[in-house]
Amino acid sequence: MKLLIKGGRIVNPAKNMDEMGDILIEDGVIVAMGEVETTECLVLDAAGLVVAPGLIDMHVHLRDPGLEAKEDVASGTRAGAAGGFTSIACMPNTKPVIDNSILVEGLKQRAQSEGVINLKVIGAVSKGQEGKELAEIGDMAAAGAVAFSDDGRYVHSAGLLRTALEYTNMFDKVIISHAEDESLAGEGFMHEGTVSAMLGLKGRPAVAEDISTARDILLAEYTGAAVHIAHVSSKGAVELIRQAKQRGVKVTAEVTPHHLTLTDEAVRTFDTATKVNPPLRSEDHRQALIAGLQDGTLDAIVTDHAPHAFEEKDVEFRYAPSGFAGLETSLGVVLTELYHTGQISMTGIITAMAVRPANILRLDAGVLAVGKTADITLIDPEQLWTVDSSNFYTKGKHTPFEGRQLRGKAVAVLVGGTIIMRNGEVLA
Ligand code: DOR
Repeated sequence: MKLLIKGGRIVNPAKNMDEMGDILIEDGVIVAMGEVETTECLVLDAAGLVVAPGLIDMHVHLRDPGLEAKEDVASGTRAGAAGGFTSIACMPNTKPVIDNSILVEGLKQRAQSEGVINLKVIGAVSKGQEGKELAEIGDMAAAGAVAFSDDGRYVHSAGLLRTALEYTNMFDKVIISHAEDESLAGEGFMHEGTVSAMLGLKGRPAVAEDISTARDILLAEYTGAAVHIAHVSSKGAVELIRQAKQRGVKVTAEVTPHHLTLTDEAVRTFDTATKVNPPLRSEDHRQALIAGLQDGTLDAIVTDHAPHAFEEKDVEFRYAPSGFAGLETSLGVVLTELYHTGQISMTGIITAMAVRPANILRLDAGVLAVGKTADITLIDPEQLWTVDSSNFYTKGKHTPFEGRQLRGKAVAVLVGGTIIMRNGEVLA
């Protein structure tokens, strides 16, 4: 069966391409691009739409196995499709922790049977994410783990991280670091600053992130291995990463839509949907993140989609778990707050949400070209819509963007040439 995506604006940064055109797909593969004349095929009208390589979210918590009341492969991959993603990579802080090849393979199998988009698995750095003993990195790499992370926790032992970096370097994989020193941040509920002082809530200081980012960069530099700093939220970390990149250190970094667009002022409501690690920080930090994204210091935009069961979050602020759903709001928030305000171009968004994640995880994706698998996202940059978590596919119904009017949305997702999502509805 042939499918023609007709008359869209093809934004394909990996090929330096931003032009009007068509894409012809046959048997799940792109067979022609440009001005395509063909008959007898299904036509997807892309007039007024951006046609982009399938978006990739390289930082998602799927909660599967063991925490399925929060999320599972079926609900999480559907949420991904609804948000415009063709691939997501899931973190190993599950129950049990994904720290061996059997669990990696099990999750990949569930992705085949229950998932609707591509699912990539990130294995743990340490056994049980306890930071004491190295997990089975080689076995997990052989089983297809795309990266390694103790996300949710910082690897406090420099010695352990050094060994992990030396291992992952042999397999050409990256370590994703949750860079927050718990001895400084551990007991805090929000960013440490004026607002935390006024609210009487213990804070998580930015320096906890700066110190751990600096150490991780130094270890990457010493070992020659690649480190990726997760959910960067402090201006100090941005500057450290900028300088390290200038020195040629193999460091990459990501930033979330919430850290780019919200500050600790949002916590004044005591809404538990604003509680997240690392925390929403002050405006000076937010501005530094935007600048970091603009100059390429921050490579990728990720959601850190961290769903929790409703009743877990529906408690007093200090008792609520950190994190909230992000897959279904990410693109809309970025388009509304950064693209429509002129702070980032469409090419910049697609670079950060498809090209760079593919490069960092070494995926054969993030580019539209003849011969490539047809993983494609169609975006209506103008569509107005309102965030309503009761319509979410994810089980996580908390979001700090609830009720927000947004401008811009993914309107179709193709995975391997099959239309998985159309007008917000997941078809698989
Ligand atoms: O807020 C967060 N929640 N930050 C993390 O790093 C982990 C995540 C989770 O797993 O809930």
